[in-house]
Amino acid sequence: MTENIEEIAEKYKVVVRDLMKVYKRGRKEVIALRGIDFEVSEGEFITIVGPSGSGKSTLLKLLGALDKPTAGSVLFDGHSVTLLDDYRAMMYRRRKVGFVWQSGNLVPGLTALKNVMLPMNLAGAPKDKSQERAEMLLTTMGLSKRMEHKPNQLSGGENQRVAICVALANQPELLLADEITGELDTETTDMVMKSVRMINEQFGTTVVNVTHNDRVAATADRVLRIRDGLIEGQKHTIYGEMTEVDAKGRVVIPESVRKLANIGKRVVLEITDRGLLMRPLETHLEEDEQS
Ligand SMILES: Nc1ncnc2c1ncn2[C@@H]1O[C@H](COP(=O)(O)OP(=O)(O)OP(=O)(O)O)[C@@H](O)[C@H]1O
Ligand SMILES: [Mg+2]
Repeated sequence: MTENIEEIAEKYKVVVRDLMKVYKRGRKEVIALRGIDFEVSEGEFITIVGPSGSGKSTLLKLLGALDKPTAGSVLFDGHSVTLLDDYRAMMYRRRKVGFVWQSGNLVPGLTALKNVMLPMNLAGAPKDKSQERAEMLLTTMGLSKRMEHKPNQLSGGENQRVAICVALANQPELLLADEITGELDTETTDMVMKSVRMINEQFGTTVVNVTHNDRVAATADRVLRIRDGLIEGQKHTIYGEMTEVDAKGRVVIPESVRKLANIGKRVVLEITDRGLLMRPLETHLEEDEQS
């Protein structure tokens, strides 16, 4: 049974399908993601947990159009993020997405206020408007008395809360957070995660948070566990398999996949916007007769 991706895309803010990422280093290949599927509702706050090297940061980069997948798709409001050209990808990052990393989010020489104003000024907002919004965000985060401090005059938790304000400057619909509490103690971690929850509730921002800390994960609406580039509990017999194409274009399809996909001696090939579709000849004819 094939799913109706358009119907699904209408229901969710973000839809991830069959997402694969293979990094090539010289002749060596690292398969970071092996076929990831999930959806995020508008206004939902999800956490992705998994051991080091399981593909969490890779996944977040693909959600934020900072990199392109090897295969598969990310849909945002029903539109493919993965097919965007460089300019549109930049606009998507600037207008729709806010990023917070473990550290190094802030410009060291600028005050907290100037740091938060920066992305708005870069996007062409008038100075008084960007100052007003920066002050509002910092106040919401309990930092009204820290606006004129520079990053090295702020605590770790304060720095991360300023970083969240920076990420929210241009009113993103999606907040992507990668191990933002990784360098913080337990108490400060709780405070920062409370701030993320508050942003999620107050502004309706959809949040995808990455961590390997189970305590942090527990603050989310839903937890996805990722291991070796796959979401735990998902069967991915087909998309997890890598196979070679030889010089004559011959592809070896493993027997297990042939059985699952009901592939016999002949297949029909179709180029779709999600890649090359291969299906049994019989199914194709039946559908043609119906239409
Ligand atoms: N630019 C790159 N080039 C080659 N391999 C990479 C690259 N980035 C990541 N990898 C590899 O891809 C796999 C997944 O990496 P990723 O950074 O997504 O893991 P992670 O879950 O974020 O780990 P951590 O919790 O340590 O941050 C790892 O094996 C990593 O070595
Ligand atoms: Mg990482």
